[in-house]
Amino acid sequence: MPPTITATDRPLEKTPADAVVVGIGKGTSGPLPTPGAEAVDRLLGGRLLSALADLGARGAPDEVTRLSTLGQGPFPVVAAVGLGAPEPTGGYSPEAVRRAAGAASRALSGRGSVVTLLAAVGGAPDAERVHAVGEGSLLGAYEFTAYKSDLPADRPAPPTEFTVVVPDAGAAKAPLARVRAVTEAVALVRDLVNTPPNDLHPAELAARGAEAGKAAGLSAEILDEDDLAAGGYGGVLAVGSGSARGPRLLRLTYSGRKARRKVALVGKGITFDSGGLSIKPAANMHHMTSDMAGAAAVIATACLVARLGLPVELTATVPMAENLPSGSAYRPADVVTFRNGKKAEITNTDAEGRVVLADAIARAAEDSPDVLLETSTLTGAQLVALGSRTAGVMGSDDLRDAVVAASRRSGEPMWPMPMPEELRRGIDSPIADFVNANADRMGGMLVGAHFLAEFVPAGLPWAHIDIAGPSYNTGAPWGYTPKGGTGVPVRTLLATIEDLIAG
Ligand code: BES
Ligand code: MN
Ligand code: ZN
Repeated sequence: MPPTITATDRPLEKTPADAVVVGIGKGTSGPLPTPGAEAVDRLLGGRLLSALADLGARGAPDEVTRLSTLGQGPFPVVAAVGLGAPEPTGGYSPEAVRRAAGAASRALSGRGSVVTLLAAVGGAPDAERVHAVGEGSLLGAYEFTAYKSDLPADRPAPPTEFTVVVPDAGAAKAPLARVRAVTEAVALVRDLVNTPPNDLHPAELAARGAEAGKAAGLSAEILDEDDLAAGGYGGVLAVGSGSARGPRLLRLTYSGRKARRKVALVGKGITFDSGGLSIKPAANMHHMTSDMAGAAAVIATACLVARLGLPVELTATVPMAENLPSGSAYRPADVVTFRNGKKAEITNTDAEGRVVLADAIARAAEDSPDVLLETSTLTGAQLVALGSRTAGVMGSDDLRDAVVAASRRSGEPMWPMPMPEELRRGIDSPIADFVNANADRMGGMLVGAHFLAEFVPAGLPWAHIDIAGPSYNTGAPWGYTPKGGTGVPVRTLLATIEDLIAG
């Protein structure tokens, strides 16, 4: 069960809870108060800020300082969470608030009910701010316990009940309804990414995607190996041929009323990427359980768009395969023929994402969409270029920039990347239309985009979001981002689709 979230405009004295969350800024000489912190300060007889300073609080991001109210006020604990330095214009960005809310949720495990004053940070709470507090609170309260045996009933679990203090509870209803929909979509992605590959093979991912889609009112179609062979999906079949658990292609379709745009979503669904015969080193191979993060994100986005009833036509085309070495695996030197008739010489079986995506993009384009949004854990080069938290966005100029602009609002860091013309030579093949992997490693993320571009019809606006790093957190939790699956880029895909509808 996801935690609940509601708004209240009652006075603080009348909102009992197991803990109250206030924001503090980072000043040059100690923590800065915010309106929410001042309200608690009054309740505690004016000693909150000096107590926080005594405890060494600085107001830095991800810093949570807990203190006992010693019986003053209707909550036993105050959690003061750092917002970082205020913006030059004063106040704090919605993303600073979202991260602080997430950090507070993570620090409040073991407290069932939480009242949060973060919506008061930096002035009057508008819908965007309430939304940020709600998202951060719920996303930070995520946990994945499906594989923990003997969980003690009295363990410190994440909070189950959030109350956001606002001046007008009625006005907070709509943003909080949206928060529930968005955070459940993110949780679905995280759950799918965190499910181990022995349990989440292609047929299982397809079945779970179809089930989630149908529950959201979408129509679902699963192509099995016979269907893929009949349909000429040579790329999906080649990559899937090394595994005893065959490949699939899932299609989810939503037809919103008064549709203003036709959107194609495509996401990479490699349920495990060993590299195949071009096998990966052992060291971090287990991270490749996350190689279906793009698939999970487009499935969840399709469900979310339906749940929000957006006026679009939308189809998610999701190729799924397990990339393993075996006697039946595809080989380096094989030539693969894709759905649209183009042919690739396989020079590295570890560049398998683009091989399954080629078929999926070709199929998605057959529906004549207005735009195509694709996301994948495509290249290690993304991590080299942009680090683990910032996704690279490529494609046609306008849609690429629209995705990056949407990411500014969602708080999922992204950066536009070029597709230098001269890099296209990197996939020239002496015998086929192209090779799947360039020989030299320079600009690997951009060469991957060039390969995908071969399957996008001329004139179709498209964007490719490489989420190799941002979709899976191998480090410590931060803000509202847990270890493991992060849910990136669901919130940016949604924001982009909403912008397309509005624009
Ligand atoms: N799934 C990987 C990319 C990846 C690497 C995702 C690290 C997340 C973390 C992808 O299939 C892959 O192996 N790409 C190769 C391409 C190369 C052979 C051209 C890579 O990046 O090394
Ligand atoms: Mn690979
Ligand atoms: Zn891969």
